[in-house]
Amino acid sequence: MSAATATKTPTLSGVRVAHDMLVDGLTSFTKIADAVPESDIVRWRSGHRHVFAIKHPDYIEHVLRKHADRYMKSVEYQLVSTVLGRSLFTDDGESWRRHRMMLNPLLGRRHLNAVVDLMIDPIDDYVSRLEAQGDRFEVEMVADMTELTLDVVGTALFGHSFGELARRIGPAVTTGLRLGEFAARLTLITAPPSWSVKALGAAIHHAPLLPPPLDRAQATMKTIDDAIWEVIHDREEQPPHDDDLLGMLLRARDEDGTLTPRRVRDEATTFMVAGHETTANGMAWMWYLLSLNSDARDRMYAEVDEVLDGRRPTAEDIPALEWTSACLQEAMRFFSPIWVIPRTAIADDEIDGHRIPSGSTLTVPVYSVHHDERWWEDPERFDPSRFTGDQARDRHRFAYLPFGAGQRVCIGMSFALMEGALIAAMMAQRFRFDVVPGHPVQPEATLTLRPRAGVRMVARRRERVKTAAAA
Ligand code: HEM
Repeated sequence: MSAATATKTPTLSGVRVAHDMLVDGLTSFTKIADAVPESDIVRWRSGHRHVFAIKHPDYIEHVLRKHADRYMKSVEYQLVSTVLGRSLFTDDGESWRRHRMMLNPLLGRRHLNAVVDLMIDPIDDYVSRLEAQGDRFEVEMVADMTELTLDVVGTALFGHSFGELARRIGPAVTTGLRLGEFAARLTLITAPPSWSVKALGAAIHHAPLLPPPLDRAQATMKTIDDAIWEVIHDREEQPPHDDDLLGMLLRARDEDGTLTPRRVRDEATTFMVAGHETTANGMAWMWYLLSLNSDARDRMYAEVDEVLDGRRPTAEDIPALEWTSACLQEAMRFFSPIWVIPRTAIADDEIDGHRIPSGSTLTVPVYSVHHDERWWEDPERFDPSRFTGDQARDRHRFAYLPFGAGQRVCIGMSFALMEGALIAAMMAQRFRFDVVPGHPVQPEATLTLRPRAGVRMVARRRERVKTAAAA
């Protein structure tokens, strides 16, 4: 289509969008995406940049799969690379492709079965700590899930030596995430040129003296970096036989050779950072939504009791925990931990007649897509059965995006779903969780979508549901 016949894209006020985003990322972003009900694409200006929000699954498929070569990860990812270095998450082009091929098998189901036992140990410890608190007590679910998922991914990565590492880097990882959030929000609103983002990243790495809060960012990164390098160097001196993910990263190879030590460090840090807060928020939302939907929760108890019959789970039990897994998937539809997926156009493009100039930022408003009644019947209802049996078959594949989609789909998806099913089953085996009456639960969009004031819950010990097999 020529410029003369291009479809006119509805345009919003850039000042208004920036103001709304400062006040509340998610609400404003959802408002933006839904601002013109008859259009699945809107645009606005942010500084020198054109920004688009696209919400039709066909448009999303165009950007993330069919014409993914016309787009790359956006400038926000350059900030992330300050902490994560050059890893799958931040890399692009041929280098990304090569490393993705090398690492895909590591996080595939077959290899993961080997680390399930490593994943279960920290969950077992956590449930024992809960049991030690008695029959009725209060927990703050976001904090608990954040600590637990860091422990699970850390142990899967570094084996049992992670306990010691976690004590050293746990607070730094949390500080790093909070600083990252602040920086990402600022970048989205002020749209700085990409050279300035790169320069800032280099300064944080190398400058000897920095003003606050950059000095804090530098100290935080150094703590994480030193600790992870120490573990990698220790491992390099030992024969590479470990069954944890670090052992697999050190052994990974293709026809061009193995990963460089720097790349092993960057991928391991990425797995740890990308893999814990997302899962933690998904789990916290799931416990919250289940406490409001007791039928779904009762069905989870019945399934857990029948499948596990009171014992510790194994990798073989996971496929049988279908309803439990569906509860997590539905929670991530309702409140997707990743609420926006941004890309930068590296060539002029056209989506359904709408012109996209090279250099534009495209954003996918995940919350709006997940609550669009064209793809989800009665979208405000929590209904895990959307993810059981054949239900997903008739759905547009690009209408469900908690893990992204297309070639950059989350490599940790199977890991997260396995981990989520194990945590849910092992906690539900022993406890019932209800929101503390009157505690306000509202989504807040930071790097991830999480409950603004956490989720305070009352935990109560529960009896096993008597099943036909147990009776
Ligand atoms: C519920 C938990 C998780 C959620 C919601 C989630 C979400 C996502 C999303 C939306 C993307 C795509 C971003 C984009 O296209 O711009 C992504 C990519 C990625 N995730 Fe996850 N993730 C989760 C767990 C994990 C875990 C457990 C790991 C590692 C162990 C992990 C590692 C990665 C990596 C390395 C990428 C980049 C993949 C690539 O570009 O090739 N994630 N994740």
